[in-house]
This record gives sequence, structure tokens and C-alpha cells, in this order.
Amino acid sequence: MPTNIPRSMMEAVARDAIDPLAPLRTRFAHPDPALIYLDGNSLGRMPVTTAALMQDVVAYQWGDRLIRAWNEGWFTLPERLGGKIAQLIGAQADEVIVADSTSVNLYKLATAALRARSGRTRILTDDGNFPSDLYILQGIAQEHGATLEVIASADGIHGSAGALMGALGGDVALLTLSHTLYKSAYTYDMAALTTAAHNAGALTLWDLSHAAGAVPVALNAAGADLAVGCCYKYLNGGPGAPAFLYVRRDLQTQLFNPIQGWMGQRNLFAFEGDYAPVDGLRRFLSGSPPVLSLAAIEPGVDLLLEAGMDALRAKSLALSEMLIGLWEERLAPLGYRLQSPRDGAWRGSHVGLGHDEAWRIDQALIHQAGVLPDFRQPDTIRLGIAPLYNSFADIYAAVAALQRVVEERLYTQYAAARPAVT
Ligand SMILES: Cc1ncc(COP(=O)(O)O)c(C=O)c1O
Repeated sequence: MPTNIPRSMMEAVARDAIDPLAPLRTRFAHPDPALIYLDGNSLGRMPVTTAALMQDVVAYQWGDRLIRAWNEGWFTLPERLGGKIAQLIGAQADEVIVADSTSVNLYKLATAALRARSGRTRILTDDGNFPSDLYILQGIAQEHGATLEVIASADGIHGSAGALMGALGGDVALLTLSHTLYKSAYTYDMAALTTAAHNAGALTLWDLSHAAGAVPVALNAAGADLAVGCCYKYLNGGPGAPAFLYVRRDLQTQLFNPIQGWMGQRNLFAFEGDYAPVDGLRRFLSGSPPVLSLAAIEPGVDLLLEAGMDALRAKSLALSEMLIGLWEERLAPLGYRLQSPRDGAWRGSHVGLGHDEAWRIDQALIHQAGVLPDFRQPDTIRLGIAPLYNSFADIYAAVAALQRVVEERLYTQYAAARPAVT
């Protein structure tokens, strides 16, 4: 295990003292300063300025400006935010727009891809993809008489890149994957898979939900065709924030949004009877932009841009290497299993730890140790590392808590029954 990782709270605090990103922690609300929050990959923390911004959007923009505010920034908010997010994911400003949920955007883009590759009847994905993505793809396959092929991971941790490449062929319309897998954090080589898909004549659609704001993404450099992703995780856009979608510039006029709403219409206020989509990305809008929730996305994205993705990645790797190093030394002997790639080059910004008692341990962490991770069925404690606000001290405290909960059998006080949201 690496020798330079902090092995005591004092060493962890010393690392924080020389961390150039550490001051950014104070730009997020911490009403409970003792809480160790390791769930930024489910719901990012709230930037301090978001509360004042929302007050302005509601009380002034809506309350005072009323309908006039549509021409004072609301109407163009989807592409203005997209332009900022584009900088985080290696795309051009006019290739990213914010609308709807990740699920709906996936539906729109996967359907558009299938139409653009008509005659091809297979959609390829893997079993590490997020279940919502799989459900949507199943529906699209049914709708279009196509077959969804779900390639299994050999070990439940690493992606199945080789098998996916082997499965590509002249009848594949679309290869669609999560860039970083939601459970294990395995991160695919986007460029290699995109090239393989293109060689077979297929399009690619990447779900960046666990990658955007967590790892440097290079959509343009990889030649990626399409992408979607959540804004409420590492982008800190707030609960249920609208999602972003990316369409490579040269594809934009070739692809068609299956939800042909007025917001994608060429001259929407002409109220013409027939749909004629606008050139460019706005054709992938359907209904009115949800202004209040869109507005809340900007402060978190600005903080990521201020930090820079390279610095964030370096800190994320240092934190996850520390966590895994301490796992090996202190947690593995207690029955914790590493359920993420050991090699940081293939790992996103969260770490999965398995345990036979994972659910009850998760409960003890939350209720007795002040640590908030999340839990994924059947046995994964997911520790989300958000380098904008997580510290080396957070990781040290979390490992100490994971250790104590098992050593002192604190988890035995909790029932095995689970609530609706885990
Ligand atoms: C990888 C991934 N894709 C898609 C989704 C679904 O996002 P939404 O509920 O915004 O449609 C999630 C939600 O957590 C996710 O983690």
C-alpha cells in the first residue's frame, strides 16, 4: 500500500492544510459541521450562494419581473448552462444543453440514434449500466423492434470493454454505456470504445452522471456522438435538477427529437401547425424550461470551473487512494470487500465497499457515527468522494467509523428491513 497516505487524524488534517482546493469547502453550506458527507455522488451539497440566488430568482425575477424575465435570461438558460457544463466534459459550448431528466434525455437521444441508423436492429450495453437506463432501452427496443443486448461484467466490478468490442457488428445501431459505473465506479476508455463503435458504423451514447464533475471527460477528443448526465450529483445542482445532454455538432441537424415539443420548433411563437425543428441543440428541448430548478444549477458548476477538473481529479485520486490504502490495512480484516477497481486509472470518484452486513453497517454509520454514505443493493456501501468539499480528515473519520461499527458490533442494533430510498 502507498506509504504517503495519512495514517492518523493529525496527518489527515496536515494534508488538508496544504490542499489548494481546501478553501472551497467553505463555499458549501455545512449546517452540521460534524457530518461526514460521502453521498455527493447521489446529491451534491448546496453551494452557499444558491440560497441567495434562489431568493432572487423567486422574489425578484418571478415576483417582480414576471413574464418579462423570459427575455431577461430565462429563455436562454438551457444553453447558457450547457455552455458552462460543456467546459467540464470536453465539449463545445453549442453542443450541450440542459433539459428534462437524465432518463428522458436518454430516451430522446437513444431513439434519435436508432432512427439515424435505421435498418440496424441491435442496441449494445452492459449490466453495470444504471437500471433506469436499462428500462428505457428495453422500452425503445420494444418500440422499434430492436434487440437490447446487455453484456455482463466478468467480476461485477470492471466493465466488459473487450466483450462489448467483440459484440459490435454491422447490425448494431447504438453502443450506450455509463462512462463511470454507478456501483463500482469503473470508468470506461471512452475513446477506445467510441472508435470501435464507429468502425462498426454504430453511434455511441454515454451516461456521464457519475463522471461529470468527478473525472475529466473528453467528449470531443474521444469523438463521442451523444451523452447525457445528472446535474444533482457532482454538479451540486440540487435535488431533481434538470439534466444535460450533448450532441456532437455535426450530428445535430441529422438527429430528431422524438418528443416534438414547441420548445424545439424553428419559430415557436409563430404557432404554426406543423413541426419543423430549429437547427442546433434547442431541437432537443420539448416543453418549457423549468426555470427555478435550472437556475439552481449554476453556482455548483461555477465552483467546479473555478477549481478546474485536473486539480479536482488529482485530489479525488489522492482521497480514494487513501481510503483504499486504509481499507486494505484496517477494514479488509473485518470483512469489508473492495468493490471498485484497485487501479485508480480505471476508477471514478466513488469507492464501493461490500460487506455481508452492509445495510446494517450503513444504518449504524448514519445514526451513531455521523457518517452519511449510501447503500446499493445487495451489499455495497458507496462512499462518494466530492473533491470540492470532501477532505482528508473526512476520509480518515469515515474509515475509523467503518472500523468501529464492526469491531464494536454497533450494526447489530439495526433491523435488516429497508425503507423506500436507500
Ligand atoms: C448513472 C445514472 N443514470 C441515470 C440516472 C437517472 O437520473 P434521473 O432520475 O435524473 O432521470 C441516475 C440516477 O441516479 C444515474 O445514477
